[in-house]
Amino acid sequence: MKTRITELFGVEHPIMQGGMHYVGFAELAAAVSNAGGVGIITGLTQRTPELLAKEIARCKEMTDKPFGVNLTFLPSVTPPDYPGYVKAIIEGGVKIVETAGNNPQKWLPALKDAGIKVVHKCTSVRHALKAEAIGCDAVSVDGFECGGHPGEDDVPNFILLPRAAEELKIPFLASGGMADGRSLVAALALGADGMNMGTRFIATKEAPVHENVKKAIVAASELDTRLVMRPLRNTERVLVNAGVERLLEKERDLGANIKFEDIFNEVAGVYPKIMTEGDMDAGAWSCGMVAGLIHDIPTCKELIDRIMTEATDIIRGRLEGML
Ligand SMILES: Cc1cc2nc3c(=O)[nH]c(=O)nc-3n(C[C@H](O)[C@H](O)[C@H](O)COP(=O)(O)O)c2cc1C
Repeated sequence: MKTRITELFGVEHPIMQGGMHYVGFAELAAAVSNAGGVGIITGLTQRTPELLAKEIARCKEMTDKPFGVNLTFLPSVTPPDYPGYVKAIIEGGVKIVETAGNNPQKWLPALKDAGIKVVHKCTSVRHALKAEAIGCDAVSVDGFECGGHPGEDDVPNFILLPRAAEELKIPFLASGGMADGRSLVAALALGADGMNMGTRFIATKEAPVHENVKKAIVAASELDTRLVMRPLRNTERVLVNAGVERLLEKERDLGANIKFEDIFNEVAGVYPKIMTEGDMDAGAWSCGMVAGLIHDIPTCKELIDRIMTEATDIIRGRLEGML
């Protein structure tokens, strides 16, 4: 399939794997890229720029296809060493960067000078337009159904994607709720040039996370996610578990007075407990409503090949046959 996204990144299929904390290690990024998509290493999961440089080198040993690095700009009192991470990306010869969380303008000159294509992930048309105005090459538009941080506007992809198509000139990926060939064809129909998947890629053989996580996603239905941290305006869609129920109870009890310190135990340091140790009640971890559409744990190649075959069948068989 040829779209503006396959052309931009020089890949076979218009399918990207979004950055995921404690999931986006070299093994997954390489597997997605080797299958013809765009694999992404999650920058901040590597505690230092030096460790990110090593992860990039490890990925290069596993694939000679294009892959990228996610840089998430978090609101924090003591920010991570972003200049160091950007340097590691540039010196590592990475050619694709997925930015998220905040405006990446400050880092664009350095990234662009190094010939890096920047795709900014955002949750609203106004942020997508801003990304276009500051010179991002593409955007990834995350609808309300997405795993992780859907923002505070709550616009689902059936509205958000065509709205993005109405306004944007640069190519964009549909993100949030994408799982299969039907998602890809729908995304293209709504005006996107490809799709970005998070949760679906966790339930793959190569995702280097505990088996309990993959099984939990397969077992979950579309009714099993919750929105947490809404009162803090830092909304996150997570899979429900005992820790999340506790967190939501605190949110109900404390109301508008709630502070981050009140929910520290349910959100801080949870990712290694879930992803590495498989302690599924440890607390809040991102997961999309799309869990309801995930029923198996294929390899990344099986998944991507299946998506492309299904998409082709829908376009050539089902849709064309209707005309
Ligand atoms: C476990 C998990 C961790 C994530 N961590 C990050 C992250 O660190 N940075 C980021 O930009 N997005 C992160 N995301 C969001 C994904 O990159 C992607 O935008 C989202 O999962 C798309 O929605 P979907 O899960 O419905 O496919 C995460 C998502 C999940 C499921």
